[in-house]
Amino acid sequence: MPTTESVMQSYSPGLEGVLAGETAICQVDDEGGAGLRYRGYAVGELAEKATFEEVAYLLLFGKLPARKELDDFAAELAARSVLPDRIVAFLATLPRDAHPMDILRTAVSWLGLLDSDSSHRSREATLRMSMRLLAQIPLVIATAHRLATGAEIVQWQPALSFAENLLLYLTGLKADEYERTKAMARVLDISLILYAEHEFNASTFSARVTASTLTDLYSAVTAAIGTLKGPLHGGANEAVAEMFVSIGSPERAEAWVTTALAEKKRIMGFGHRVLKHGDVRSDIIQREAERLSDLCGDRRWYDIALAVDRVMRREKGLYPNLDFYTAVAYLLMGIPRALYTPLFVCSRIAGWCAHVIEQQEQNRLIRPRALYKGPAPEVYVGLDDRR
Ligand SMILES: CC(C)(COP(=O)(O)OP(=O)(O)OC[C@H]1O[C@@H](n2cnc3c(N)ncnc32)[C@H](O)[C@@H]1OP(=O)(O)O)[C@@H](O)C(=O)NCCC(=O)NCCS
Repeated sequence: MPTTESVMQSYSPGLEGVLAGETAICQVDDEGGAGLRYRGYAVGELAEKATFEEVAYLLLFGKLPARKELDDFAAELAARSVLPDRIVAFLATLPRDAHPMDILRTAVSWLGLLDSDSSHRSREATLRMSMRLLAQIPLVIATAHRLATGAEIVQWQPALSFAENLLLYLTGLKADEYERTKAMARVLDISLILYAEHEFNASTFSARVTASTLTDLYSAVTAAIGTLKGPLHGGANEAVAEMFVSIGSPERAEAWVTTALAEKKRIMGFGHRVLKHGDVRSDIIQREAERLSDLCGDRRWYDIALAVDRVMRREKGLYPNLDFYTAVAYLLMGIPRALYTPLFVCSRIAGWCAHVIEQQEQNRLIRPRALYKGPAPEVYVGLDDRR
């Protein structure tokens, strides 16, 4: 057993550089050149050749699906893409200005109340719940958004891909914009692949800590959603778009960033706890964002992003992370900004659920120690004798 002294010697604020468990799901492969691998596959190759559905299957089931397996998986997702009436009624009662991440966190907790599997922890039950969450989270987001904006509630269309359905849900793009919509859906698909998994990031770790007490999947996912919401994690993609809108034009970017840095502000979408020399995923989504900007004949957001990127590399030596150019792509798609982080959830749910299953199968309660910095020992003084 480690002594208190040896524990204190290994203190690392924010758990930086600490190995906190084993995983077979994701490898940060900085030295191998792939950047990141999901179950052995380079994320760049998956982004180029696979669909999000294949990647979600890979994460959850541990192998790439054969065609029949993928068809069955997609059919199962489509069959589960219905929200219980009680959830729709609940969503209709929410304040119009509630943040979609707060709505999602609350709705997932509700979904757990209605799921007869929720108290089970077998691999089969957790996979069934994971599939339900994968199918229902986009519906929660879209239904809440459509109720808040008075738009018609659309149905999941089995003939469309996961990303196409999502885009349709969130933007209601018209059929006469078919070619552009197809291109946007593919970029959205790629962003979902890139967002799906990242080892022991804060929200996944949060899910694993929660699961390690042998509680249920819905509790772990609710904790993860709350963790992802913060601007230092998933909330950064929304914050990046807000920055682009506030900057307004590429010519204003240099002064905007320089002023913000002089005021010691953090520039959202830059830096990473683990990836200190750049992020392969950012390079991929940057290329896609540029391509989409040209296709849409609108380079404003991309050029603002490029200008900010240049200043940040020069002034701080910091590289963009995945959230940075993703915000350019989502702005071009016309997705409301408050839905960017919920979109991240639509994807990362696959990674979270895979980690919960892994945690359950090799469980050890996650319970670290703290370095005490409080008062020295005190003597208790009776209530009437205190001053
Ligand atoms: C992600 C993040 C929390 C990682 O932080 P970290 O590993 O704890 O790194 P630190 O906070 O120790 O930062 C190291 C240095 O870089 C600076 N820095 C890091 N990210 C920065 C940013 N986005 N803008 C400005 N400066 C930044 C810090 O101020 C610090 O400088 P200092 O040593 O002069 O004080 C951090 O880079 C950040 O806040 N980024 C913006 C939010 C974001 O994009 N989050 C999504 C992450 S995928």
